[in-house]
Amino acid sequence: MSQVVVCGSLNMDVIAQSARRPVAGETILDATVSLLPGGKGSNQAIAAARLGAKTAMLGAVGDDAFGHELRGVLKRNGVDNSGVKVIAGSSTGVALIQVAEGDNAITGAAGANGRFKPAMVRRAPRRGDIWVAQFEVPVATTEALLRKARAAGARTILNLAPMIPHPARLLKLVEIAVLNEIELAQATGTRITAKSSQSSIVAACRKLGASTVIATLGARGLIVVSPEGVTALPAYKVKVVDTTGAGDCFVGALAARLSAGESLLDAARYANAAASCSVERLGATPSMPSPRKVAARLARA
Ligand code: ATP
Ligand code: RIB
Repeated sequence: MSQVVVCGSLNMDVIAQSARRPVAGETILDATVSLLPGGKGSNQAIAAARLGAKTAMLGAVGDDAFGHELRGVLKRNGVDNSGVKVIAGSSTGVALIQVAEGDNAITGAAGANGRFKPAMVRRAPRRGDIWVAQFEVPVATTEALLRKARAAGARTILNLAPMIPHPARLLKLVEIAVLNEIELAQATGTRITAKSSQSSIVAACRKLGASTVIATLGARGLIVVSPEGVTALPAYKVKVVDTTGAGDCFVGALAARLSAGESLLDAARYANAAASCSVERLGATPSMPSPRKVAARLARA
């Protein structure tokens, strides 16, 4: 089995759940607040490790209580955290997440994530390993790490979330790009929504420039566009508590199954089931499912 190496962000998520979102200038007092581990990179690493992959995390935290806690959470979930650098004088990333009306809105403060540099990485990529990145650390770092990974013969997954300006050449380093419909519209300058026709979503995926593109479409499921063809996978029907981290669960599960030698489509089917489990619980990291839960979900199909 090859190894999953996730390069990316670690955040402490401050989650406010309320019946509705306040409008600008308004105060509402009925929220419930939770402090839970998150950050797209860490969420993806923990999803992969919980699903059985040997996983390492590369990233940065501040020398504060949140940073200490997040490194501990990785370790307790079986992720090798030795590549998570503690940056003196920096604060750990924080995400303020409003969960209301079945959806979320996130305001991030990058902190140490914004200071993560290629020179902080000691790990050398190995042929066949799966290197995974997102867009919550500097794009120059992501590009440098993916370039090294590709040169060494590792496989690469880029989750283009949240969308930030990036050079077109970055996509040439990516074997599998994963993004939601909003990110796909932003990246390709199209008007794609989750309700767009399959043909227009596929056309946007082909415009992106990565070899394989997976468009995740929330409750609609996902579309895989690869050199072998197009496959749409419907989402499972589940009771949604909080969708935060569903995309991360999908990416982590996909990487885990690829590292176990599964085909792209089988790994995507598994990741679809895993992500459907993640929306049934509050928070990002805490909602990453066990292999048993995913197996039960797959058996339901
Ligand atoms: P987030 O930013 O909230 O982490 P995302 O927008 O990146 O998520 P989505 O497209 O919303 O990602 O969801 C990723 C995957 O999670 C979907 O392709 C699907 O497999 C699963 N999923 C998301 N929402 C639902 C839902 N309501 N019901 C079932 N499965 C879902
Ligand atoms: O994808 C969900 C994650 O995005 C949250 O955990 C939050 O930290 C933001 O980075």
